[in-house]
Parts: sequence; structure tokens; C-alpha cells
Amino acid sequence: MNDQAEALRQLVKQQSDQHYQEKTKFISVTSGKGGVGKSNFSLNFSLAMQRLGKRVLVIDADIGMANIDVLMGTSSRYNLYHLVKNEKTIWDIISVGPEGLHYIAGGSGLLDLIRLSDEEVARFGTEILKLQGQYDYIIFDTGAGLSKETAQFITASDETIVVTTPEPTSITDAYALIKMVNSIDETVQFKIVVNRSSDRAEGERTATNMASVTKRFLNIELPAIGYIYDDPHVSKAVKKQVPLMILFPESNAARAINQIAMEYLNMPQSSSTGIKGFLHKLLKRSR
Ligand SMILES: Nc1ncnc2c1ncn2[C@@H]1O[C@H](COP(=O)(O)OP(=O)(O)O)[C@@H](O)[C@H]1O
Ligand SMILES: [Mg+2]
Repeated sequence: MNDQAEALRQLVKQQSDQHYQEKTKFISVTSGKGGVGKSNFSLNFSLAMQRLGKRVLVIDADIGMANIDVLMGTSSRYNLYHLVKNEKTIWDIISVGPEGLHYIAGGSGLLDLIRLSDEEVARFGTEILKLQGQYDYIIFDTGAGLSKETAQFITASDETIVVTTPEPTSITDAYALIKMVNSIDETVQFKIVVNRSSDRAEGERTATNMASVTKRFLNIELPAIGYIYDDPHVSKAVKKQVPLMILFPESNAARAINQIAMEYLNMPQSSSTGIKGFLHKLLKRSR
């Protein structure tokens, strides 16, 4: 190959790398306690972001539960299992849901995969790298609590959204999770969403109280992105297996999620290290 062609190749590579660094941001959605609304939030927040013009990929990282598929009434042939087991590539396992939302399904019934080996984490990372330039946001819907895998996704992401409800049990578990993550990696950036709030005051109070406790005891900033009403439409949408944003776009909860997406995009963004940064952190953590 002549020098000019090589120089050009390098230039193109550099440019696409730069494009990327600015563009792809990794968000983990997590909680201390289960059943607080992470999967519903991840899915509907992704749809809201997409409606605001962002390119989003949502990944069901709650291995064994396959929540995202169930919430959309879809069923995917391939999922993360096939990827980490080296049977399928990243392109094979990306499915397209309602409104053209790109997602990667979790593996229903694949409970034997509860622990990913370091090799499997590496395989996942290598395949993710192929997504350079494809998405503005990659959002992980994680399992509750801090498994080894969840810790890896969180510490490799640019940002972690902690979902809690106003109930004391959910709040104390969220606090415990933040504390644990912080002890593993103190650079993790958290934001909080209060779900199932009975009114605005309760949502704001919950977020403010949590932020003051994390600030005081852990010296962690915990900006609130917003709160979501406790709304029977959520459960109705789950039962119909149609995402809330699509089935009941005018419901209080859907409006709140839309508000959160807008607020999120208006907030000062923590710097993104892009796909390469994500991969680097993921692999460093798996050693
Ligand atoms: N804002 C809300 N209002 C009313 N019910 C909700 C709300 N968010 C979640 N739920 C209920 O909680 C259930 C669990 O939500 P899910 O998203 O699966 O939680 P997680 O992923 O945290 O386990 C939903 O099926 C729904 O019935
Ligand atoms: Mg879930």
C-alpha cells in the first residue's frame, strides 16, 4: 500500500474516532431494590429520546429476565447469550421494536449465564466496538442490586441513572447501591429518577433527601432528572405489552418520562469517553 493511501486511512480513522467520542454515550439504568420500574423507565425513556431525534440502542442487561421483549410484546431469536457464547455477531442480535427502536434482548431462562466469564465480557466488548458511530446513546437496563456484571456495566458507562420509588426500602437500597458502586469506582456519575411518586412534592422531596444524604456521607453529587407519577396506565401498558409512550402518550407517567428526556438532554452532560472508553473501562474492570 502506498503512503498516501495509508495516510488517508489514518485520517479517516481519526475522524471517525472523534465523531464517535462526541457521539456515543453509555447510560446504565439501575436500582437497589427490584420492581421499582427500571425496565419500564429504560424502554420508555429510550422511546422518548428517540422521538427527540436521538439514535438510541437499549440493551436488556438483566440476564435471565428478558424484560424489554416482554414489555414490547416482541420475541427475539437471538440475544446477549448468543453474542457472549460467540455464536452470533452484534449485527445478528440487534432487534427492531415499535417505532423502529433498536434493542438487544436479554436471555429469558438463561440463568446459567448469571456469571459472565472475563472472556465473555471481553467478547461482548469487542462486538460493541463495532457500533462506532451508530448511536448517540446506548442504554443498559440492568438487574437490581449489584451483581458483578451490573457493576461492570455501571463502572464502564459514562453515567448511571438510579431509579427509586419514594418508599423507604427503595431509598435505603438505592443509597446502599450508590455507596457500593462508589467504593469500587469513585468516578461514577449518578443521576436520580424518582418513580411512582404520588405527587410533585413527594418526588422532589425524595430526590432532595437522597441527594443531601449522598452528599453528606459519601460526598457524591446526585442531580435529579425528575420524577414519574404513580400511574395505573403503566400497569395497563405492561399487560397489553405495548410501551406506555405508544399506548398512552398523554398519560401522566408518559408525559413525565418525556419531560425527563428533555430535562436530561438539557442538563450539563458529563464527558463521554465513547465506545472505546467504554470498552477500555469494561475490560479493565473484568481483570
Ligand atoms: N410509574 C408507575 N406507576 C405505576 N406502576 C408502575 C410504575 N412504574 C412501574 N410500575 C409497576 O411496577 C412493575 C415493575 O416495573 P419494572 O419496570 O418491571 O421494574 P424493574 O425493572 O425495576 O424490576 C410494572 O410492571 C408496573 O406494574
Ligand atoms: Mg427490569
